[in-house]
Amino acid sequence: MPKPKMNFRYFGSCPAGDVMQITIRDGSGIYAELLSLGAALRTLKVPDREGKTRDVVLGYETAEEYWENDGYLGAVIGRNCNRIGGAAFTLNGIRCELSANVGTDQLHGGVIGFSHQIWTPVVYENKAVFRLMSPDGDQGFPGNLSAEVTYSLETPGELKISYRAYSDQDTVVNMTNHAYFNLAGQESGPVDAQLLSVSADAYTPLGQGLIPTGEIRPVDGRPEDIRKSSPLSRCFDDPAFAATNGLDHNYVLNHKEEVSARLYSAESGISMEVITDRPAMQVYSAGVLTERKGKNGAVYGLHHALCLETQAFPDAVNHDNFPTTVLKAGEEFFTETVYRFRTAEE
Ligand code: BGC
Repeated sequence: MPKPKMNFRYFGSCPAGDVMQITIRDGSGIYAELLSLGAALRTLKVPDREGKTRDVVLGYETAEEYWENDGYLGAVIGRNCNRIGGAAFTLNGIRCELSANVGTDQLHGGVIGFSHQIWTPVVYENKAVFRLMSPDGDQGFPGNLSAEVTYSLETPGELKISYRAYSDQDTVVNMTNHAYFNLAGQESGPVDAQLLSVSADAYTPLGQGLIPTGEIRPVDGRPEDIRKSSPLSRCFDDPAFAATNGLDHNYVLNHKEEVSARLYSAESGISMEVITDRPAMQVYSAGVLTERKGKNGAVYGLHHALCLETQAFPDAVNHDNFPTTVLKAGEEFFTETVYRFRTAEE
């Protein structure tokens, strides 16, 4: 009798605890490895134009590297992704002081955000559900929050990530996934030649400490206009992007069409479309990804990947003109993002 394939295994240990690795697959050749640490997407294999699978996300070999390194490779970010200026906000007249981890600001949920906590997985053939109880006061956020993230390969060619949360007090929630995509393969080096377009007529300019100024600025006639497909090198070479060493911009999505962003590698023939119900997307071209060891002997460095982080606007809780990130007590937070893979000629 053939041995049944196990879809989970012990991955390693880190100060957060023991980490499990979960495997899910679909019928079209997509295969994903997920970790209980940070509910992270560690591996995503998709077929290239030759029908050979390529691993299109960056990841590490060990649990310790996930714990110790910056970069949030593939992790779920929460309770609040991106930055909160001064690591504080006022909600219902009460001042909430958060754990600050970048100077005096909070980035990606704080010192021990959702990316550094152990989630409880439930595994199915083509779907994995991760649950986390985040207690009242976790990283300074109010309310006991129950969070759930589902990775699903139920539709062939598509990875869908759904996020759900409930709180017993009003709180702030803005979760995302921090996958580093390289459609030529995780070991293939800089993504300069990959083509990106994002359906966004505006972006939110940054001030001190990369905190949004509050302005929502049209991209018309500006270097930040990435609506037309162009190689990422265009942004890497343009001095307008020097302060962020490439793209590290929050784009306000148009939602006029189904697809909000498209990335394509002519080398592999793999294209990825991002479909989301979120109002914005942080487009980050790994401008602070310092040299480090990755999976299967890969060595990562600057611009070796692109993150397309679907989200609400950064620091929204401190800007009344931004869509709210407040989750009311007893109400449901629910959002979905689909990454659709195809092979195409361009
Ligand atoms: C942020 C960057 C930050 C990076 C850390 C991105 O989501 O936009 O500013 O440096 O995460 O990995």
